[in-house]
Order: sequence, then C-alpha cells, then structure tokens
Amino acid sequence: MPSGTRESRITASGESPHNESGIQAVGIRRAYLVMHGAEHARFSAAVEPHLDRRRVAGLFEDVKQIALAETDAWPIGDAADVYALLRRLAQRFAFQLLFGEGEPARIWRFGEMLADYHHANWVRAAMLARFHLPFTPYRQVLRQAEALMAFILEGMAARRGCPVDRDVRAALAAVPSGGAEPGGDAGGCPRDAARATAAHVAGFALASFETTSTTLTWALALLASHPAIAAALADEVAELGPLAAVDDPEVLAGLPLLNAVLNETMRLITPVPVLGFKTLRDGEITGFDLRENTTVMISPHLTHRDAGLYPAPDRFRPDRWTTVRPNTYEYLPFSGGPRRCPGFQFAKTNLRVALCAIMARYRLALPAGGRIDRAYAVITVPRNRVMLRLLPAGGRNEPPPAQGGSFFALFSRDQDAASRTPVAIRRMAGS
Ligand code: HEM
Repeated sequence: MPSGTRESRITASGESPHNESGIQAVGIRRAYLVMHGAEHARFSAAVEPHLDRRRVAGLFEDVKQIALAETDAWPIGDAADVYALLRRLAQRFAFQLLFGEGEPARIWRFGEMLADYHHANWVRAAMLARFHLPFTPYRQVLRQAEALMAFILEGMAARRGCPVDRDVRAALAAVPSGGAEPGGDAGGCPRDAARATAAHVAGFALASFETTSTTLTWALALLASHPAIAAALADEVAELGPLAAVDDPEVLAGLPLLNAVLNETMRLITPVPVLGFKTLRDGEITGFDLRENTTVMISPHLTHRDAGLYPAPDRFRPDRWTTVRPNTYEYLPFSGGPRRCPGFQFAKTNLRVALCAIMARYRLALPAGGRIDRAYAVITVPRNRVMLRLLPAGGRNEPPPAQGGSFFALFSRDQDAASRTPVAIRRMAGS
C-alpha cells in the first residue's frame, strides 16, 4: 500500500490546525472551519442536511438556470479570462443558493470582498507577523475581515426570519454555540452571537466558491489543451439533448466522460493540495509515535501523483477512470473522515452542470502564446488570468499551439491518451 494511502488515515483525528485568521480575530475564535470534537460535530449535524443528496437534488433546477444564464452571456470569438467568468458563476451558485443572496450587485460584492480578504490574509508578512500595528499587512487583513463581517451582518439582518430549512446561514445561526445561545441573525440577538454566525458564513462562502471556480477553470484549461478529449466530451453532452430539459441530476452523474474529466482534473490539479491536522491524543500512526497536539500534514496532491495508484500520474488521462477504483484515502479531492468537505454533493452537481452548459455551447481553444501557471493559496489557483478562446460549439478543434515553461509543459499533451480516451470511455458507457 502506498505510504500516502496509509498516512491519509490519520484524518480520523478530526482536528484542524488552522491558525487564527483575520476573521477569527475580528469575529470569533472558533469558526466552523477551526472547530473540532463535539462542537464541530454539532455544527456538522446542523449543516449536513442542507447539503445532502436529496437537498442538492432539490436545487438542481436552480443550478441549471444559473449555469445556463451565466454561460450564455460569455463572449464568443476572442480570448476571454475564463477564471473571471467562472468566479462569477461559482459566486452565484454559492451565495444565491446557499445564502439566499438575490441581488447580483451584492453577490459580486460578496465575492470581491471575500477574494480581497483571502488575498490579504495570504500575504506572507501578514501570516508571519500577526501584530495589530498601523500600516502592517496584518492590520490590512483585519480591516478586510472587519469590512467582510459588516457586509455579511447587513445581509443577515435583511434576511432575518428566513426559515432554517431554506438557508445554510440560518442553520448555522440556529446552532447553540458551546452549549450557550444560538448564533443569532443580527436582528435582536446578541452582537457577538451574530458575529459568530457571520464568521461561519465567511468560511463557508470561501470554501465553496473558490474551490468550485478554480476546479472548473483547470478543467477548461486541460480540455483546451487536449482537443480530442474535448471533442469526445462535446459529443457526449450533445447526445444528452438540451440541458434545460434534463430534470434529474442522476442523468449527469451517469455521464462517463463528464465525470472522468472532472475526476481527472481534481486528481491532476488537486484543489486543496495539502491538508493539516492535529492529533487529539497520544497515539501511533503508521508506526510513528505521535504526541497529542502534533501537527500532521497530508498531501492529496502527492497521493494523487503516486504512480502505483495512477500510472503516468503527470498525464491528463480521463480514460484511466474506466479502470482505477481508488478508495477514499487514495483519491481525496474533498478530504476524508470527519473533516470531509460537507459541500461535496453540492460541488459535484455544480461542476457537472456547469461543464455540460459550457461544452454544449462552446469549443475551447488556447490562444497562441498563452501561458497558464499555478500558485498555492490554500487552494491551487491560477497565478494570473486564464485566457482561452471560446468558439461556437461544433467544428473542428485545432491542435493547441506549442507552449513552453508553463503549466502546459508540465501536464504535456498526451496524444496517445487523447486518441484512446473517447473509445475507452464510450465502451464503458455502453457496457
Ligand atoms: C470543487 C469543489 C470543492 C472542493 C474540491 C472542496 C474540497 C474541500 C476539502 C479538501 C476540504 C478539507 C479542507 C481541510 O481540511 O483543510 C473542504 C472543507 C470544507 N468545504 Fe469543501 N470543497 C469544495 C466545495 C465546497 C462547497 C461547494 C462547499 C459549501 C457548500 C464547501 C464547504 C466546505 C466546508 C464548510 C469545509 C470545512 C469542513 C470542516 O472544517 O469540517 N466546499 N472542502
């Protein structure tokens, strides 16, 4: 068994090592993302029913409407920054469907404020020197966090009284915190309780839209650089008929190449490449004696690149998903154990719907001389804009122009796999 597989099992500790971020500093010390033990379990129990398969299936129509409306407005012909377009789309999925934000202006503002906060928080100087002093990067983080909290609190007050079963935010507010009073909705509840809820909301919002938008961006970049796979996927989606007429999310869950492309994208460019945990008690893990409170880092990125699990691991080969059957700890884009991503059903539906909507309408091409690089900011994000040409669907996909020194050099085109994939996947579909 590969070492990454065994090491991954320590996720059972259920502890999170995140340091205090700006949101914790100006909100509460124990937002959902940094809770553990019984407190975390209480919040999970409140949130999970909002994100389970049945509830997500109930959102399917809304997800489709959002995806179709957003992608319909994309510019055809010239190169466009698909990362920016997909951020808008993922913001609507998250803020409209999870937090009930209806006004587009507020949705975009929410996204901008979260991104500004996240980027400020991720400046190295702000992480290393958390001093409340004027003109320091950390002070900038606190300012961004405070503005974000104020914005969320304003939205909460406006939506006061929303039934818990319609809104993840309301569900978070209803959880008794530390056995004390519920989190509050900023309208009549204690100020600190409302701020606690706002801190949970900020974490949820960040966790949901940044991951979804980057995963879709990488999927499009990989498809643009593998035209044969993109053409086969376009055929699969065309055979489905109009997306608007699909009324069952399981239909999309059953499309072999669509799911293989998404699985392979998250394997190759793992959205959250490193997960950190702390041990709750002394113990032994894979032969190592670990003391309580030891930080343990797990890298899904490395596990996903284990050649014993995934032959030719650096290649984009969706057809491998016809044969590989990894267990939870061999393929973990959504983590595993008690800290597994609670939004994975919602995320998977959104990814499938969005990719179908895009492939039904557009053919993707790399502009000449384009360059795409990655950066690490908890999530694997594009370092800059991701410029792709969006051509009308149909027609012939041109081979991508030669690239050098970029992301495309690393995940170099695999013509062999590109020509094999459609056949292998289609055979699986027919079986
Ligand atoms: C492609 C999309 C997504 C990916 C790849 C992803 C992946 C992950 C991973 C790996 C973790 C564990 C992080 C850690 O332990 O440090 C996580 C946690 C989390 N995710 Fe997701 N996620 C996605 C979408 C979503 C969505 C749509 C939501 C909200 C509906 C969401 C909400 C959360 C929350 C709240 C946590 C923290 C859970 C906890 O601390 O117990 N995620 N996600």
